[in-house]
Amino acid sequence: MRWLASESCRLAIMKVERDFHMSRGDGEDSYASNSRVQEKSILKTRPVLHKAVTAAHALCLISSGPGGGAMVVADLGCSSGPNTLLIVSEVLGAVADSRHELATTMMVVGGAGQPQHVQIFLNDLPGNDFNLVFRSLEQFKTLAARDRREKPLLPPYYVAGLPGSFYTRLFPDRSVHLFHSSYCLMWRSKVPDELAGGAVLNEGHIYIWETTPPAVVALYRRQFQEDLSLFLRLRHTELVPGGHMVLTFLGRKSKDVLRGELSYTWGLLAQALQSLVKQVSSLLFPFY
Ligand SMILES: C[S@@+](CC[C@H](N)C(=O)[O-])C[C@H]1O[C@@H](n2cnc3c(N)ncnc32)[C@H](O)[C@@H]1O
Repeated sequence: MRWLASESCRLAIMKVERDFHMSRGDGEDSYASNSRVQEKSILKTRPVLHKAVTAAHALCLISSGPGGGAMVVADLGCSSGPNTLLIVSEVLGAVADSRHELATTMMVVGGAGQPQHVQIFLNDLPGNDFNLVFRSLEQFKTLAARDRREKPLLPPYYVAGLPGSFYTRLFPDRSVHLFHSSYCLMWRSKVPDELAGGAVLNEGHIYIWETTPPAVVALYRRQFQEDLSLFLRLRHTELVPGGHMVLTFLGRKSKDVLRGELSYTWGLLAQALQSLVKQVSSLLFPFY
């Protein structure tokens, strides 16, 4: 964290690319052991991802030259733990099913233009526990080989870690067939400048809560709009024409931004933090 001191306030500003990461490792307090809510969301959207993988595979089949190209898939904000592997498994399983279907209906497995290889990029911020990801991938390979004995064979695949913010360019032009991102896009690229610089204050809060001034809400909302449109522009450039994206992220049911489940949770966290860290009068999260 970077500490900004002024006469009237002390602001703890999180610099996202430098400071932000989920709790590392696979111990009791780790993200890996505390991400069942996120897992639920992945399981719920499974059919959508399956459909998108099938469509991206078909696109790759049509567009690859003789000998078959690689199908490129990226999971943005992969974190570490079982959910990361769940996405890898889901993507490979869907490609395997799709290849099997083609083989039985059209007899084309191994034929010209068939994408033989799947390249999966696992992206997150540099502070992510990529070591845990790489170690668990080894286990995944062993388990996948065992568990799929009765199912269509997985395609040859290559998994690589890709550190960097998804609010920057991550891939060459027109090189990715499918982007996936689950439970990430509510994280902003930064705390809005006016709040970070102390020009506007959100005294006593780490986010938006009942007494947050409308000016602060407007700043967060504007940051969300800028970030999301930047994200979409970047991915549009990186996707092959006709490529696919599956994006799942938190939204609001209520129009009342100051109340609601998430604001309540962050409000309680703010109270807990303030009772622990007396010298911080304002700590701000890049979230909306
Ligand atoms: C709640 S976790 C979700 C992880 C995983 N996708 C899942 O469903 O369990 C959010 C992840 O987004 C990552 N993240 C947040 N902002 C990011 C950014 N700008 N670029 C890349 N990753 C980011 C965080 O580091 C974190 O690992």
